[in-house]
Amino acid sequence: MNELAGKHIVLGLSGGVACYKSAELCRALIKEGATVQVVMTEAAAQFITPVTMQALSNRPVYGSQWDAREANNMPHINLSREADAILIAPCSADFVARLAQGRADELLSLLCLARPQDRIPLLLAPAMNREMWAHPATQRNLAQVAQDGATVLAVGHGDQACGETGDGRMLEPGELLDEVIAFFTPKVLAGQKVLVTAGPTFEAIDPVRGITNHSSGKMGFAIARAAREAGAEVTLVAGPVHLATPRGVQRINVQSAQEMLAAVEIHAQQATVFIATAAVADWRPAVASEQKIKKDGSGQTPVLGFVENPDILATVAQSQHALAGDLFCVGFAAESHDLLAHASAKRVRKGVPLLVGNIGPATFGQDDNALLLVDAQGHRELPRASKRVLAQQLVAEIADRRTAPKT
Ligand code: C5P
Repeated sequence: MNELAGKHIVLGLSGGVACYKSAELCRALIKEGATVQVVMTEAAAQFITPVTMQALSNRPVYGSQWDAREANNMPHINLSREADAILIAPCSADFVARLAQGRADELLSLLCLARPQDRIPLLLAPAMNREMWAHPATQRNLAQVAQDGATVLAVGHGDQACGETGDGRMLEPGELLDEVIAFFTPKVLAGQKVLVTAGPTFEAIDPVRGITNHSSGKMGFAIARAAREAGAEVTLVAGPVHLATPRGVQRINVQSAQEMLAAVEIHAQQATVFIATAAVADWRPAVASEQKIKKDGSGQTPVLGFVENPDILATVAQSQHALAGDLFCVGFAAESHDLLAHASAKRVRKGVPLLVGNIGPATFGQDDNALLLVDAQGHRELPRASKRVLAQQLVAEIADRRTAPKT
């Protein structure tokens, strides 16, 4: 996808071993459609060569405020004015200190100081040894630059190049890319607390067997990501799926429908939006055997009795919180035919303002889908697209409804 199409990013590298990750980051930004202008400090050029960065960005790299290639000899003005954002990755402890002081004796800090603050955002991806990170001077400087308008991204935790373990690693290129994409996303869900269920449930028969379904969780995870990018605080209650947790999303793993209900009931109390995408098993074995059910050679097959699972969506939609209009509930319906009729009936039956229909066999496990939005006013189709794009569209639709005055 071209999620950064039309965006021009100044990628600034200050000195640190994490510079090797910036080569990959540069590629990732360009792959998403951005143009990238690399600016490096002298220290950064000790870790990775400008030749590498020039080859990857397909532009000459800047490193000196005296660079005569610019007709007016003012690279700090020209480069900063062209940018949609300046991203410093890695941002060393020394560079944070320079920003905090407003230093301007080399090109990268000079162009940060010279940038028009009201229209050119500055994002910092800190990278340093854990002791440097934890030092009060660094934390004081970070607080200062944040107060001065910079966006300070998180650091990773783990093994460091110095052999120590702790906080201070630069985020991985993919994580930084996600942060940049999120940064540019309009914050239509700012202030909202969104709760999402995703994936299948697993209903145990015995300790080694159970009943589940083919839901991949992709749609719910895409919705959780899009909601977080749109500024919401997001909790994702996930059945057993092997998907990475979207950045910034709080994930709670569950197995059964009953566990999912318990987790949802706790978090629904604070939520303002509930989106139920999970394919919850309708029934569970009446008794889950504590021991593995053994084949005894007699040819007899076990007889399984079933009981109905709680309907999580309908339960939440009937809570005081939802009935008072403080929790906007969205349901999903996976159907095999007559989508509009079934989705409309399900919306009423579940008591939710918005129900999203899709054709089950066409969505399970797929990366793309088509949705049918049904509400009290009528219906609207979101034509076939990637689940990523559909999730973004759905989030926009929910934001419109959530912010619309109650009638
Ligand atoms: O009744 P049906 O399973 O078709 O309804 C689908 C919608 O209800 C989805 O939003 C699904 O997440 C939710 N659901 C639920 N708990 C159940 C069954 C379905 O939350 N036990």
